Amino acid sequence: MSDIGADLDALSLAARERLAAASSAEAVDALRHHLLGRSGELTALLKQLGSVPAEERPALGQRANEVRGELESAIGVRLSQLQAGDLEARLADEAIDMSAPGRPLRAGHLHPVLTTMRDLREIFHAYGFEVFEGPEVETEEYNFELLNIPPDHPARDLWDTLYVAEPGSIEAGESRPATDGTILRAHTSPTQIRAMRALDPPIRVLTPGRCFRYEAVDASHGFEFFQIEGLVVDRDTSLADLKGMLEEVARALYGRDVRTRFRPGYYPFTEPSVAFDIGCLVCGGEGCPACKRSGWMTILGAGMVHPTVLRNGGFDPDEYQGYAFGMGPDRMTMLRHGIGDIRLFFSADLRFLGQFSEGR
Ligand code: DAH
Repeated sequence: MSDIGADLDALSLAARERLAAASSAEAVDALRHHLLGRSGELTALLKQLGSVPAEERPALGQRANEVRGELESAIGVRLSQLQAGDLEARLADEAIDMSAPGRPLRAGHLHPVLTTMRDLREIFHAYGFEVFEGPEVETEEYNFELLNIPPDHPARDLWDTLYVAEPGSIEAGESRPATDGTILRAHTSPTQIRAMRALDPPIRVLTPGRCFRYEAVDASHGFEFFQIEGLVVDRDTSLADLKGMLEEVARALYGRDVRTRFRPGYYPFTEPSVAFDIGCLVCGGEGCPACKRSGWMTILGAGMVHPTVLRNGGFDPDEYQGYAFGMGPDRMTMLRHGIGDIRLFFSADLRFLGQFSEGR
């Protein structure tokens, strides 16, 4: 046998090793092309057949055909091995592990401000207060006039009010669109009148709800925020009742050690009026940026219901007295958790909100 016979054997052997090493159908295809293609290695050997002696040619030709046959079937075998391997891998991939633990479901929870409002409702419930709700879209009459704030009174400037324009008046391009006195309530105090007109004494109601103001939004102001109004009307109530109760409420909400104080305040619908402060929870009273270096933080306004307001609610001030208070649960929640920016409450950022999941 000439060298071609040895070359054929070597080619066959080397080809099998390379086939075994081919790890994808593409690699096998490339190898097939390289071995059996028109300018492949086997073809090159066949071309040399013309130069061997005539008597050796038939045997060598037959050997070459055998080698081609062997390689083709080896290629077929390798391809099906690879396909089977793929399938196995895919099956392993798709297999369902029945013993694997389930993915945890993300359960929602209350917004921190809502948690504070519910806590307050619970605390005041113990003092006999019931919830009495009023509308968010109000009238100037309830929001101001009936609360002893006449149209041209400078105290109106305390509330930057959002007016609802009359239909068509904005399209008309007027610089001051017409309004029929419909507004978004600037505080929850209008419900004082609604409660007095709707309920029989003694009255003890709590009005939680959303309020709206034409405010430039910053770290401590939102154009939309919550208030909780409280109102008591009875034959024999006094500022002392109000003070004692508010001190207890502060302790229930912020802990027994919280310090409290009352300061004189001004509201047109109460006389006298007070502001109620707690010792700063951030610095403990030494003075810090959060309490504007005063050591105190105001959490609500309150006072004895003004005789005019009692009369507007249908009560004779010689017979009945009342006290009222208005709280800001957004601010109270900020104090509770040391939150520095009110805008976070409306940001819908779960990295922030997710920190308050303890609130049921
Ligand atoms: N309505 C007041 C405000 O928005 C808060 C307030 C103060 C309510 C004193 C009251 C009160 O009932 O007695 O600023």
